[in-house]
Amino acid sequence: MQKQLIQVYFDEYQGINTLKTQDAFLLQAAREAITLSYAPYSKFQVGAAARLINGVILKGSNQENASFPAGLCAERVLLSICSSLYPGIPIIDLAVSYHNQLGESNKPISPCGICRQSLTEYENIVNHSIRLILGGMTGKVFIIEKATDLLPLGFSFTDMK
Ligand code: THU
Repeated sequence: MQKQLIQVYFDEYQGINTLKTQDAFLLQAAREAITLSYAPYSKFQVGAAARLINGVILKGSNQENASFPAGLCAERVLLSICSSLYPGIPIIDLAVSYHNQLGESNKPISPCGICRQSLTEYENIVNHSIRLILGGMTGKVFIIEKATDLLPLGFSFTDMK
């Protein structure tokens, strides 16, 4: 038996003002996408914005449903928009922000487990990593080099070959 270790580095910034211009722009776009959120049940509004390799910026937001499991996170709404409008075109960067109507929005949130799986699938099918920019309406910002970093030992189609 051998113990194995999985480590992940990420960059922590003190706020949006300390980001590179392009990253700050995308996080701001994610914040703007929050206004398109439909979250009457959780009151937790999430916005996401993607920069494609061709320079196009696309936005998505969480869309809830009275039948709770039918709701979709902002990240997966955005991935569907990207792959529907620009199939096969890599996403270079993807920013996520949120507004918690019932509490604070001053620290980064990171994608849920299902979204991590979907982000990883996207990376695999277009053969390009997705760099994540995570921040609230204020406060620190985390930058993670690739979505797969958040899903160590994940399952993918290569495992089915
Ligand atoms: N949500 C997202 O859209 N993205 C995340 O990364 C975390 C959670 C949504 C799902 C649900 O509509 C609400 O936030 C509360 O969980």
